[in-house]
Amino acid sequence: MSKTVLITGGAGFIGSHVVRLFVNKYADYKIVNLDALTYAGNLENLTDVANYSNYEFVKGDITDISFINSIFEKYNFDGVIHLAAESHVDRSISDPGAFINTNILGTVNLLNAARNYWKGNFKGKRFYHISTDEVYGSLGDDGMFTEDTSYDPRSPYSASKASSDHLVRAYMHTYKLPVVLTNCSNNYGGNQFPEKLIPLAINNIKNNKSIPIYGKGKNIRDWLFVNDHANAIDLVYHKGKNGETYNIGGNNEWQNIQLIYKLCEIMDLKLGRENGESAKLITFVKDRAGHDMRYAIDSSKIQKELGWKPSLEFEEGLEKTVDWYLDNETWLNNILSGKYEQYYEEQYVKR
Ligand code: NAD
Ligand code: TYD
Repeated sequence: MSKTVLITGGAGFIGSHVVRLFVNKYADYKIVNLDALTYAGNLENLTDVANYSNYEFVKGDITDISFINSIFEKYNFDGVIHLAAESHVDRSISDPGAFINTNILGTVNLLNAARNYWKGNFKGKRFYHISTDEVYGSLGDDGMFTEDTSYDPRSPYSASKASSDHLVRAYMHTYKLPVVLTNCSNNYGGNQFPEKLIPLAINNIKNNKSIPIYGKGKNIRDWLFVNDHANAIDLVYHKGKNGETYNIGGNNEWQNIQLIYKLCEIMDLKLGRENGESAKLITFVKDRAGHDMRYAIDSSKIQKELGWKPSLEFEEGLEKTVDWYLDNETWLNNILSGKYEQYYEEQYVKR
């Protein structure tokens, strides 16, 4: 194997797409997927690659310092692509502690392990931290987030991610750790846990349950298809410059309510319902506390410097996403019933 790369959070939504891309594209790399399998981690996301010879799954928690040290000792990683995180804003509002532990302390553990095990010999090494556009705060009607926008996080989730971003940069300035960062907008696609807006709405529409829209549904997000994010991560890992940050986004802003109308239209077609039937399920509910109004990413830097661009129009991506959830009913049902949590036992423990 020419390189051993640690991917953290590889059993989650974005991480599983990154793992799949890397194990298929880089047969000469060994990919180690480290994941604690929290409620958001699901090895059923990776059944297609589970038995690849260049792939290994390791169950473990990034907040456990001795465990992290032991895997750095064991594998001698060339690079780290760090996605493991608590990622849901609503959960961060009801229980911020887990976000502080995983997103901040867990990241510091990885930074320390990389620093200690690479021992100042950073040639060919890379620590790649995956972050979010939410660290920049909330926009009004105009403007976009650039890499130079000041940080202004406003939820416990975004504050914990902002804190980890600062620490990653501090390790570069202080210890010369070769880091690179990306801040991406909202992702959508298959394998996303159905607590996030799009998969939650698809599941509710399918089951004729109400679609909860926070506040007036006027908040705006910039949506990017998850495979486009995975391709950007591949590019930045291999071609990004040390010490740089790249913003990644879909140039694709949608008001929540407009997005849900579009989704309902697609679902009506797919489910053979009369046009307008699914939209009757829309229900306005109490707003999220501190709900950020608008996110929009200026991704011109990664487009110009690394040649990345989104590959899909939103309507095409949304239709693909709907198809994925309708075609993967067992995946969804196993999450809803909690059965997916047994998969690890069956796949890895009883063998
Ligand atoms: P996710 O919640 O689907 O997956 C997170 C994964 O991390 C899960 O597999 C979980 O088991 C694992 N994990 C959580 N705590 C852990 C711990 N203490 N130790 C080891 N593993 C742990 O999240 P996602 O949506 O795939 O996001 C991945 C990364 O991308 C996160 O860092 C997130 O901040 C960032 N991001 C997400 C989005 C988005 O729209 N989803 C956008 C931009 C950036
Ligand atoms: P979400 O998918 O949680 O992503 P984020 O909060 O990280 O942007 O939410 C996307 C948008 O949808 C956000 O403005 C909150 C809103 N939302 C709802 O209106 N209803 C819901 O049930 C959820 C989960 C989100």
